Amino acid sequence: MISLLAKQVTLALVWGAANALPSSNASPILDTRSVQPAYVSVAVTTLWTDPSKPRAIDEPALTNPVQMDKWLSMNVSDYSDLTTNSRTQTQALFGARVDIIGHENGWYEVALPGQATPKNALGYPGWVPAAQVSFDQEYGRLLSEKPFAKVEKAATVPLYRDHSLKSKLMEVTYDTRLPVLRETKSAIEVATPGGGSAYLSTHDASVYKSASDIPYPTSLDLINTAKLFLGLPYLWGGMSGYAVDCSGFTHTLYHSHGIDIARDADAQADFTGHGTPVAQADLQPADLMFYASNLSDASTIYHVAMYIGNGEMVEAYDSGTPVRITPARFTDEYWGAERFLKHRKI
Ligand SMILES: *[C@@H]1O[C@H](CO)[C@@H](O)[C@H](O)[C@H]1NC(C)=O
Ligand SMILES: *[C@@H]1O[C@H](CO)[C@@H](O)[C@H](O)[C@H]1NC(C)=O
Repeated sequence: MISLLAKQVTLALVWGAANALPSSNASPILDTRSVQPAYVSVAVTTLWTDPSKPRAIDEPALTNPVQMDKWLSMNVSDYSDLTTNSRTQTQALFGARVDIIGHENGWYEVALPGQATPKNALGYPGWVPAAQVSFDQEYGRLLSEKPFAKVEKAATVPLYRDHSLKSKLMEVTYDTRLPVLRETKSAIEVATPGGGSAYLSTHDASVYKSASDIPYPTSLDLINTAKLFLGLPYLWGGMSGYAVDCSGFTHTLYHSHGIDIARDADAQADFTGHGTPVAQADLQPADLMFYASNLSDASTIYHVAMYIGNGEMVEAYDSGTPVRITPARFTDEYWGAERFLKHRKI
């Protein structure tokens, strides 16, 4: 995913030109008066570049409930067209907070506070169908006050209607986080946006008091998480257990283990300033490897993969290529690597 000037110009109209064009290093002064919190009410909502971008075949992605399997059965040329026409931006998972910053006929413009980007200091911007968010403020209160259950076991897991885990309400994806109401040995009762309570199996999710309680991962933890995504489709803007793009994949690997990195590949390398550059000879598992069309210009970084050791990496490469483990590429577009994991000395 590459920064688009067009997006910044749209935001300039929303926020006023003086404070809406963030540079890589400076945050704009924010006018948050008109920002209203809402919560994703489908398994995954896709943020579109603008409401004109979805095609007829994207209808299953716009409904509530969302029909991901139907949507993702599109052919490779329809997948590629999402990239070449810059239709999709990113995704947000069930129960996540989105901040409404604009609206138009059946659509909300939102920013995702959990996905850092130089495009907007409020969070990653894009448009979502109004039918896929809820303004349930009681849910919002629970989300900010209660411990949360985090889906960890698989790319997708069931969310149940009943504590005996017999009747499936819907599917939720890896790293979905929902406020916890009650826990038993086998079931976690969670709140849902606009929908009352539901249940996760204790085999599928863990409970944390806050994001800072998530155990600091080892490189093996990150690699094991990556393996849950093997074989999933590449989707431009994808960032869920249904499909991912290159940086949505690496963002999720780190985010699910409590480490925040930027959303897009160029920003992961350049923007957050949290990574430490790593020479090729010093690569360690879990280091992120970046590829650029011009090695002297970090804004041309177009791809990120995660090194997993033994000369191999894991990546979401491009449309038509499922998430894969492949020999680490050191081509003339290899820009370098960054380390986000602080390796503890033993
Ligand atoms: C892909 O599907 C679209 C319909 O969504 C169709 O028009 C197109 O011909 C198909 N392309 C290929 C290469 O099969
Ligand atoms: C690569 O980036 C550098 C630094 O921005 C620039 O001076 C150079 O002209 C670029 N090279 C090409 C081939 O665009």
